[in-house]
Amino acid sequence: MEINAVEFDRMAREIFAPVYPVLAEQIINRTGINRGCCLDIGCGGGYLGLALARITDLNMILFDESDDMLELANGYIRESGLQSRVKTLKGDVHSIPLDDESIQLAVSRGSMFFWNDRVKAFAEIYRVLAVNSVAMIGGGFGNVELLKEIEAKMLEIDPEWNEKRRQRIGKNKVEDYRKELEQAGVSSYEIIQDETGLWIIIRRIA
Ligand SMILES: C[S@@+](CC[C@H](N)C(=O)[O-])C[C@H]1O[C@@H](n2cnc3c(N)ncnc32)[C@H](O)[C@@H]1O
Repeated sequence: MEINAVEFDRMAREIFAPVYPVLAEQIINRTGINRGCCLDIGCGGGYLGLALARITDLNMILFDESDDMLELANGYIRESGLQSRVKTLKGDVHSIPLDDESIQLAVSRGSMFFWNDRVKAFAEIYRVLAVNSVAMIGGGFGNVELLKEIEAKMLEIDPEWNEKRRQRIGKNKVEDYRKELEQAGVSSYEIIQDETGLWIIIRRIA
């Protein structure tokens, strides 16, 4: 599904902005990975990847299939002054243009709901993860306070926002994701679901 980059970016800046630094802290605390190469899949304007780069020594690849999103991300990289460690890469998650086992941390927020074939996408993410590396893929708002704040703003724009959110990360989706991960040959994963979101954590053990 095509996303309007300028419209999405306005929402990211005006509504979702406080979520990214909170998620970045949570990702680092949970994975313990703060160096090496990190891939932000479906990065959009690159807010999560940039938030991670600010608090770690990670080299960041902001990866998206959309030229418009990557143009925005390149602008935000320049503004951040982190050009030496943060780059963009164009491509499709179903065929990631990176070598096997080349990534120490993969993150993806709000993108997997748009992927056509999640089995293929999960297999690709698993392929690029190095041994002892972790991927965190999903959607979430960091904490309940932020969720409530964002919910109030989003419901003004789209009265069906909560229903759409339930369809993406509701309880009945967990079984689907579990089946897709198994089909992709991912042997070590957990799915965390609470009121703030849903995250799939893939660990490449060997
Ligand atoms: C809702 S936006 C989320 C952007 C960003 N992760 C954030 O949280 O602000 C979803 C992003 O996923 C990207 N995307 C969707 N399908 C993709 C695919 N198959 N491969 C790579 N990127 C994809 C879109 O272009 C878009 O930038």
